[in-house]
Amino acid sequence: MKGIILAGGSATRLYPLSKAISKQIMPVYDKPMIYYPLSTLMLAGIREVLIISTPRDLPMFRDLLGTGEQLGMRFEYIVQEYPNGLAQAFVLGAEFLEGGPGCLILGDNMFYGQGFSRMLKRAAATDSGACIFGYYVKDPRAYGVCEFDTEGRVISLEEKPEHPKSHYAVPGLYFYDSTVTAKAAALAPSARGEYEITDLNKIYLEEGTLHVELFGRGFAWLDTGNADSLLEAGNFVETIQNRQGFYVSCIEEIAWRNGWITKDQLRTLGEQLGKTAYAQYIIDLSL
Ligand code: G1P
Repeated sequence: MKGIILAGGSATRLYPLSKAISKQIMPVYDKPMIYYPLSTLMLAGIREVLIISTPRDLPMFRDLLGTGEQLGMRFEYIVQEYPNGLAQAFVLGAEFLEGGPGCLILGDNMFYGQGFSRMLKRAAATDSGACIFGYYVKDPRAYGVCEFDTEGRVISLEEKPEHPKSHYAVPGLYFYDSTVTAKAAALAPSARGEYEITDLNKIYLEEGTLHVELFGRGFAWLDTGNADSLLEAGNFVETIQNRQGFYVSCIEEIAWRNGWITKDQLRTLGEQLGKTAYAQYIIDLSL
């Protein structure tokens, strides 16, 4: 399966920072925000990734991440001229996906928790239908929301409902089978003028092929959409890293643990990163 990261372009509540720089390039604690969604794709075993961003910001991502070869991966880049919806990722990404299945992750979504890699690998093995996730939040009104029947089957999906039918928000991580490009191409824009990911998911729901996996209470899905949540996410990463000594979303470490690069390559990557704690962490791993 191939992966797509949609970074920038969607509405951000970080003005005026959003005017100056794409937030996905800004650090969450000690690394660029985009490392977090990228590492999620890597943990799913995805090696080919398309990065979609604005005309202004795409060169920065290309500069930061390059061809992907250094991580044993392959990155492609494509511009989204206007922020007209998440489902557009599959229209822009049609050539990249070559008619195959695809996983979309939003550039500002962060996930952390035990058993995550296993869940991701299971979702990435989806060869028919779609797999999305549900996460209990206090106030789901800013999200896609899914409703379940008494047997836990999903019965409805709504985008940013004023009166949510449940507390389960749908995080920005979606796995689709190879019919996704045709389905996305056939969507019509919503009332707010966007090609909604929720409308794409509804097609799978109506077909009876939508699978929703729930994240439990011990799992962290962090949003970085406004100033408070950005700071909270940074503090979360700092707390985990300083307590355990393991880094959250160190892409070089994941590439090495996945067997995509050797220990020597890992050391070289660390040495290229200068005198940062992040670089030292990588060098120490490679000893
Ligand atoms: C988007 C999706 C929404 C989803 C959310 C997750 O909202 O439209 O369904 O729950 O991402 O972060 P946006 O971030 O564009 O407001």
